[in-house]
Amino acid sequence: MRRRGFVKACAAGAGCLSVGPQWLLAAEQVTPREYEKVRLLDGRGEPLRAAALETKRNYVFHYPYQATPCFLLDLGEAVEGRNGLRTRDGKTYDWPGGVGPDRSLVAFSAICAHKMAHPTQQVSYIGFRQPGEGANGGKITCCAENSVYDPYTGADVISGPADQPLAAVLLEHDPEDDGLYVTGTLGGEMFQRFFDEFEARLAMEYLDGEADGRIRGETEVVPMTRFSSNIMRC
Ligand code: FES
Repeated sequence: MRRRGFVKACAAGAGCLSVGPQWLLAAEQVTPREYEKVRLLDGRGEPLRAAALETKRNYVFHYPYQATPCFLLDLGEAVEGRNGLRTRDGKTYDWPGGVGPDRSLVAFSAICAHKMAHPTQQVSYIGFRQPGEGANGGKITCCAENSVYDPYTGADVISGPADQPLAAVLLEHDPEDDGLYVTGTLGGEMFQRFFDEFEARLAMEYLDGEADGRIRGETEVVPMTRFSSNIMRC
């Protein structure tokens, strides 16, 4: 698979990790990573309207690379931002919360922060559970080894072996036409590890070698129930 340059968060400060006192480490902030501004499309190739999303339904799209899946959720209520989320390397960031007319729309990388379980067309171990769906209703749960993330708090880890939140995907809403865009990510990206770990499988799925090609212009959003033929529950 072709290799591309991956942006490293806060690269300039990385050297501080081994030498700085604790109060310096705590102050180190992850800044948003900008990728292409990409419009979200519905399943018919038309611009997706925020009003068309079903509340608390799990949607999937690819961004910022052809093979990296993300979740889109309308949580049905205003979602406040959350400060002080922490990546596994001790850096912190402030998640801005929901966007859209009701500030209820959120998006996250769908790559589990533990061992990178992610939705595929064949099976999905990780996904949003409907409220009332057992103890983890209203949460994003990875059934591979039971990591549970809270989409209302920036996909922070509630329980399980994951050691950082799902990376946030930065959303924008255009009130002029109710359209939605994604512009970048925030938090503990795992894209380089993802491409390294799944290189052989991705090479078979993306015969053009474009698994790590950047999404440009538009990306299609589909319900998880259409994206994955076998959704695991736990
Ligand atoms: S891969 Fe998700 S909990 Fe282990």
